[in-house]
Amino acid sequence: MTKSFRTILAGSRRSEGAPRNVRLMVAVAAGVLMLAGAASADEASTSASSTLRELGAQVQLRIGTAAVPNDLSDPTLAQITADQFSVLTPGNEMKWQVVEPSPGTFNWTGADNLVNFAEEHRERVRGHTLVWHNQLPNWLTQGVANGTISDAQLRDLLHQHITTEVSRYRGRIWQWDVVNEMMTDSNPSQLNPNDFWIAHLGAGLLADVFRWAHAADPDALLCYNDYNIAGEDGSNAKFNAAFTTVKSLLAQKVPIDCVGDQGHLDLQFGFNPILMTQDLRAYASLGLKVAITEADVRTFVETTDSDQTPIVSKTDPTPSHTANPAGADWYVGMLQSCLAVKACISFTVWGFADAESWIPGTFKGEGDADLYDVNLNPKPQYTALQQTLSLARGAPHRGGSSREED
Ligand code: XIL
Repeated sequence: MTKSFRTILAGSRRSEGAPRNVRLMVAVAAGVLMLAGAASADEASTSASSTLRELGAQVQLRIGTAAVPNDLSDPTLAQITADQFSVLTPGNEMKWQVVEPSPGTFNWTGADNLVNFAEEHRERVRGHTLVWHNQLPNWLTQGVANGTISDAQLRDLLHQHITTEVSRYRGRIWQWDVVNEMMTDSNPSQLNPNDFWIAHLGAGLLADVFRWAHAADPDALLCYNDYNIAGEDGSNAKFNAAFTTVKSLLAQKVPIDCVGDQGHLDLQFGFNPILMTQDLRAYASLGLKVAITEADVRTFVETTDSDQTPIVSKTDPTPSHTANPAGADWYVGMLQSCLAVKACISFTVWGFADAESWIPGTFKGEGDADLYDVNLNPKPQYTALQQTLSLARGAPHRGGSSREED
């Protein structure tokens, strides 16, 4: 149902307690507007006020964002999170470091809030992430380093961690990023022998962790998630490594359902959307779903002081996006790659607002990576996605109903 039609209905429902002549006027006005709407259904579905989630629903693609607690407690950010997106990923709140700060002591507050928020707003959740070398609790990495945690104990702890977390949210998580970032950045690339988990527990662990997650929630889609595994490295080296790995897992009958390509682009490097489409299609040819899971497009931004503090900050709200039209193009390229592959079930951005972005804190001098500027105004990046989604409605395999459920 289009937003305008919903508004009309809401208006006529609100008029139920009004005098009869007012009710009649509302009904007539609604009828006229509905006729006008019927005559130009396509135009109505592509209006400037259409949200990303509405436009995505029309082409059976869920549009998501990562959220951190601030996004859900700040009224303006929460409103955008609810209005624009139909998938939520916790930016940090489900990582081991956060959920088990000391052995056996759990903190589920942030994760619970996010899952509750998502359900309240009919959004699905991408669980992120169970097996990753980063953001592990200190007690775990220190214990391994000083020998008080043996490899056998480490394996048990990981098994327990996966079982506890996945069971807690059983039935409430759509996709789980079971394994995150395990390929090397070299050419050729391979499963990283120096990855914390592989180094201690061996490559056979990969099959085990998917099986453990599946046992704890048989309905969740289980994904391998990584960056530069859909052509962004130009050489396809990382794609080759990821493809070989997931193919071998499938051959071992491991319950893996999807590949997530993070989609963290940087304008200083090349990007070829055709290669991305081809790679997503290749994963799909194995029978897997695919998803863009952490899209953003960063670039160097003007700086204000000698230590290169990015200008994109809350205290100096000068958006630099006018100098960055390519940012919108690359977002569109990624979205089009996803739209071109029927198995691509969600397109998620890693936060939507420049002022909240992880980029300036991680990549020195870079920013301007998101859909909304520091004043929370939609940037050309946002309108370009709106336009691309509305055009996708005409794509041969993406017509049909506007249900989000499929
Ligand atoms: C990032 C978060 O956004 C930051 O807040 C945190 O400090 C570091 O991690 N790839 C991933 C995400 O899979 O988990 C990372 O998230 C970004 C890169």
